[in-house]
Parts: sequence; C-alpha cells; structure tokens
Amino acid sequence: MKTAILYYSFGGFTKKYAEKAAGESGADLFEIHELRKRNIISAFIPGCPYAMKQKRVRIKPIDCDFSAYDSFILAAPVWAGFPAPAFNSALALLPKGAKVEVVLTSGSGDSSKGRTKVEELVKSCGCELTGYKDIKNG
Ligand SMILES: Cc1cc2nc3c(=O)[nH]c(=O)nc-3n(C[C@H](O)[C@H](O)[C@H](O)COP(=O)(O)O)c2cc1C
Repeated sequence: MKTAILYYSFGGFTKKYAEKAAGESGADLFEIHELRKRNIISAFIPGCPYAMKQKRVRIKPIDCDFSAYDSFILAAPVWAGFPAPAFNSALALLPKGAKVEVVLTSGSGDSSKGRTKVEELVKSCGCELTGYKDIKNG
C-alpha cells in the first residue's frame, strides 16, 4: 500500500504534522508551494475569500506520477472556516478514483462548517473521501 502525503502550510504547523505522519508511516511526502509568495495580509485578503469559495491558486508543479499511489493524505490549514486555497489546487492533482484522507489544522475557531464543502469538493474531483481529521493547533 503506497501512500502520499501532500500538504500546504503557511505558518509551519501543518508542515510539522505532515512530516511526523510521514516519518511514522513511511509515506512519501510532498509540500505544495504556491507560485506567488504569500504574506499574512494576502493570506487574509484574498486568501480567505478564495478559501471560502473553494477557489484554486497556482502552485509549483510537482514532478511525480501520482497514479502510482494507492492512497493520499491531503493536509492544509483552515482559513475562514475552509481549507486554504492551495488545498483545492492540490486536490486537482490527484488521479480520478483516488482514496483521500483529509487532515485540516485549525485554531480555536469552529471548522465544522467547511466539512460538507470538503466532502463535495473531493467528490467533484472524482476522489473518494476515506477520512477527515481536524487537528487543533495549540
Ligand atoms: C489567514 C488565516 C485564516 C485563519 N482562519 C481560521 C479559521 O477560520 N478558524 C480557525 O480555527 N483557525 C484559523 N486560522 C488558524 C490556522 O488554521 C491554524 O493556526 C493552522 O493550524 C495553521 O497551520 P499552518 O501553520 O500550517 O499554516 C487561520 C489562520 C490564517 C493565517
């Protein structure tokens, strides 16, 4: 069973989570980088409105044949209640029929409202949602 962990992290928390998970499971790890450098201001505007509308952003290409994997873990922070936009772009990289566990990291906010949207999005990309975790940061 070959698993790939794809993650986007703005502040480092999701990165730490993904690195630990990969170390423990032996899964291959891929970091998602946005093409445009983001700062705290652009994380809120336009990052949050993008997150709320499940919009994609341009990301750096990853040289990998993802069809070689049996399953995926997709990890990203919650922005304004929804996964950060790079999550939407990463999801689009996965092969149709992929089994995907979603791991979202968040602060003290209620991140449950984004769950239905995530379920819809995973389905609309032709993937199967196999798990959903919300990891609280701090
Ligand atoms: C632009 C922005 C929006 C955020 N919105 C939320 C939110 O709606 N709810 C929440 O609980 N945390 C929110 N957070 C906190 C992050 O989701 C949380 O700290 C996350 O674990 C950070 O992961 P990272 O360090 O990998 O970027 C937000 C953080 C940022 C920068």
